[in-house]
Amino acid sequence: MRKPKMIFDIAMLAVYLVAANPAVTGIPLHEYLGLGAFLAMVLHITLSAGGLTGRGHGGRLALNAVLLVSLAVCAVSGVMVSGTVLPALGLYETGYFFWDPLHALSAKVLLAALLVHLVLRSPVAWAWIRRQRARASAAEGAIAREDATAERA
Ligand code: HEM
Repeated sequence: MRKPKMIFDIAMLAVYLVAANPAVTGIPLHEYLGLGAFLAMVLHITLSAGGLTGRGHGGRLALNAVLLVSLAVCAVSGVMVSGTVLPALGLYETGYFFWDPLHALSAKVLLAALLVHLVLRSPVAWAWIRRQRARASAAEGAIAREDATAERA
């Protein structure tokens, strides 16, 4: 995995963690952060599309399906109960008592599926961190050798 993608994924996780706690941010900010997290996750899925089709493990495909559906339902139901984003567009939706529990439920399913996803992907993240450390210490070693050569000369 390349460095910009890893940095993007970490930033996306941070935005999601804040967005998933409306009690901390307040609902109006939650709505914008929720939209941001949704768009970031869509980009993440698009960038990882090779991994979706590449290895066809049944369990992995089922997990990806749960992630995709819960994310979509969470975003749509969130917009439907929105009291800030939707009115800002001059729109209003009825059906609060249908969309609100659906939003709460899909957010919980998304959280559970994301936890499993993170655990399954953690070896890739650890391998990336180990590679970065190895590169950094190799670079330090090269600089130290260059310094030693320059001192001897
Ligand atoms: C990744 C995206 C999102 C996550 C994880 C998320 C998560 C949550 C959670 C956990 C709650 C509290 C539910 C409860 O009462 O148990 C909530 C409430 C709420 N969310 Fe989201 N949300 C997301 C996206 C959105 C979006 C895009 C909007 C609207 C544009 C939105 C609008 C709302 C509103 C209005 C409430 C308060 C509903 C109420 O109790 O009256 N959410 N969200």
